[in-house]
Amino acid sequence: MKKIIKLAQDNLKNSYSPYSNFPVSAVLELNDGRMIPGVNIENAAFGLANCAERSALFTAYSQGVRKQDIRRIVIYTDHDYFVSPCGSCRQVMSELMPQEAEIILVNNKLETKTYHNHDLLPFGFSKEDL
Ligand code: THU
Repeated sequence: MKKIIKLAQDNLKNSYSPYSNFPVSAVLELNDGRMIPGVNIENAAFGLANCAERSALFTAYSQGVRKQDIRRIVIYTDHDYFVSPCGSCRQVMSELMPQEAEIILVNNKLETKTYHNHDLLPFGFSKEDL
């Protein structure tokens, strides 16, 4: 756990967030031990911002990683409170990560709060609804 948190903390500097000045870092841990980082990436057209969680997940999927390969995601911000994933990320995590995967929020005191994917989007829309 220490290793993934350190990676999330170190990777925060890669955030491209000149508009919000709210850097976020996320690291996915796979079942084989691999760790895949992501950061939030913003744009002058504000609506195009991509959150750290989705950056990490899209990077992983782009490398061939799939749902069953993912163990957990750590989300780190440099605040003394816990930052919770936005609705869009909950929707994407719900589809791209196992329902039992852990979502671990980490603040700048390195305190953690752990949830499961299914906790964050009850009664969500999924491909089973199509
Ligand atoms: N953001 C994330 O990257 N993840 C979250 O869980 C919450 C919000 C980003 C989006 C935007 O770049 C900035 O934080 C402020 O909303």
